[in-house]
Amino acid sequence: MAVQLNYIAPPSWKPENPDENYVLLQFKIELAGGIDKSVFPEAAASVAAESSTGTWTKVDEGQDSGIKMADDYKAMAYDLDEENRMFKVAYKTDLFEVDNMSGFLAGPVGNIGGMKMVCGVRVFDMRFPRKMVESFPGPRYGIEGVRDLLDQDESQRTMPIIGTVPKPKVGRTAKEQAILARRLWTAGDGTYDFLKDDENLTSLFFNDFKERAKLVHEVQKEVETKTGKKKLYLCNLTHSNIDTMIDRANWIKETGGRCMMIDVVTTGFAAVHTMRLKNPGLVIHAHRAMHAFITRESGDGIEGVGEIQGFSISMVALAKIFRLLGVDSIHSGSPKAKMEDYGESAEVMRVLTTDQTPPNEKFSTLGQNWFGMKTVWPVASGGLHPGVLDQVVATLGKDCYIQMGGGVLGHPQGVERGVEAAIEARKAVSSGMTVKEYAEKNPKSALAAAIQLWGMEPKIVY
Ligand code: 3PG
Ligand code: 3PG
Ligand code: MG
Repeated sequence: MAVQLNYIAPPSWKPENPDENYVLLQFKIELAGGIDKSVFPEAAASVAAESSTGTWTKVDEGQDSGIKMADDYKAMAYDLDEENRMFKVAYKTDLFEVDNMSGFLAGPVGNIGGMKMVCGVRVFDMRFPRKMVESFPGPRYGIEGVRDLLDQDESQRTMPIIGTVPKPKVGRTAKEQAILARRLWTAGDGTYDFLKDDENLTSLFFNDFKERAKLVHEVQKEVETKTGKKKLYLCNLTHSNIDTMIDRANWIKETGGRCMMIDVVTTGFAAVHTMRLKNPGLVIHAHRAMHAFITRESGDGIEGVGEIQGFSISMVALAKIFRLLGVDSIHSGSPKAKMEDYGESAEVMRVLTTDQTPPNEKFSTLGQNWFGMKTVWPVASGGLHPGVLDQVVATLGKDCYIQMGGGVLGHPQGVERGVEAAIEARKAVSSGMTVKEYAEKNPKSALAAAIQLWGMEPKIVY
């Protein structure tokens, strides 16, 4: 084991000019049962070694062995916090092929998950240097680009974008989905923004992808003429064959669409990178089904202090990766909905929407300099309804997509009233009112009826 200890930096060592020279990772580990806590520094060193240039034993160091280069490029574990089993690792930038996300991840989040001496590892964050940031495409549109595409005026630019996932998740035919699109987009004052496919809906015998895209885009054109407002259909082209996704993206373009939805975890990093580069000019909406199998950590140590219970990578780290790969919007978690919310959605929002994301000690995050890369829309979804819109905006800001499926389609007075309630809630928020104040002033409004049914808290999905 002593072999690994030279992967620990001297006390108080800090990486010099990391935005040029280093990729940084923040780890937390739990030692496996029976291993004394004094072994922590060795475990941290093993993480640095195994994820960079080391192996389990001393190897040939003779001529042509590569040992000199390996020594120059060994990663350094630093900032060791024995009490909380937290540490950072600095990897020299040139240790990686800078434009290769899949290749990069195989190092720092590769074999270390299998180390016997640990029973838990969480990757809290990754901080990428300029050379890596600049070698990825980033979003094509980002926040401003999507607002431009929708021809938004100044007042609309201070509001979130709102829309609906048809529920039941699967059940409508392509034709029925197009009928619903018309109802949503023409209800109220005609300002409802988007329709999004649910994750289970790809191309099914009763709801074929091409038919659905064509019919919904026809409705889109029709209602745009009628309402004078541009619309987005986040059309799910997810497939495990990238050629099929490219074909579907081209079909969206041909039929007049503006946006594709990809399930970015199930399709993978290479697929997302490729789709960004081969994209015929569509906005990329990233859904993140399966992320909880990667990001979920149930221990108290989720914020750094306390114990962790398993192996995970934070959503903060995933959000950075997908911003680099070039999505324009991504599910970021909504305050209080679904999994227990410990404030991560706001941290993910900062990663997506700023040019200089500050480090945050509370979440043990490292911050990020984006060097001018376009920003990404955070997307709040799951258990939301018009009665929570003010809370979502208070946490995520005005630059977010808010998705209400059941929260619009389940309105007690019908779908159109659901849309009205959502639009009223958005208007209330943009005029500085809470949804409660609006409902009290307008007791007969659709928003008041929604609040009467659902209250003003998100509905947690158990
Ligand atoms: C959806 O919008 O299809 C899901 O509710 C996504 O949930 P998430 O926003 O928590 O990923
Ligand atoms: C999901 O899959 O959970 C959703 O698409 C979100 O829908 P909801 O707004 O009805 O919770
Ligand atoms: Mg869904």
